[in-house]
Amino acid sequence: MDNRRLAILLSGRGSNFVAIHEAIRRGDLNATICCVISNVAEAAGFGRAREFGLKAECLPSKGADREAYDRRLVEKLIKYDPALICLAGFMRILSPAVIRAFPKRILNIHPALLPSFPGLHAQRQALEHGVKVSGCTVHFADEGVDTGPIILQRAVEVREGDDEETLSARILEQEHQAYWRAIALVLDRMNAGAG
Ligand code: GRF
Repeated sequence: MDNRRLAILLSGRGSNFVAIHEAIRRGDLNATICCVISNVAEAAGFGRAREFGLKAECLPSKGADREAYDRRLVEKLIKYDPALICLAGFMRILSPAVIRAFPKRILNIHPALLPSFPGLHAQRQALEHGVKVSGCTVHFADEGVDTGPIILQRAVEVREGDDEETLSARILEQEHQAYWRAIALVLDRMNAGAG
């Protein structure tokens, strides 16, 4: 039987999560969201998940011991039996124990064309470097920071006069197109048995 269950992990605004949810609702993405887990109770994305009537759980990370936190996270995720775990602005680095619990099943989106500009403030890094093209990348999470195998990228032109805000906004539009398409690619491949 196909498993098309998505677990979403977020910490903030949640616009990528909402874009995935909308793609499912439109029928563009054949998947279901089995849970939304936030490490921040006030995260806007967490509120949206509740509005949508999705299973939403907060696992607060503030002050938590990393190992214990990640163990709880893995236990929780296993309970939901997700095909894929989608990091959507989840502002925590996952320990190797989490990555190893779900090999090739954790996806992340990053607002730059990896391997350029990994880590925080990717759009600012791109502007400071003076690149003429940036974009976004959906990739499998591995044990490094923004280093796993790339699934899909979309390019965005850097315009004269762009600042961090304007460039981030145009990249974000492309993120909202890229993430669900990447999820569809991976789910189709997994469910066809090609892993
Ligand atoms: C996005 O820019 C994403 O690429 C990065 O974090 C941001 C999350 O935005 N990983 P949102 O919470 O999905 O609106």
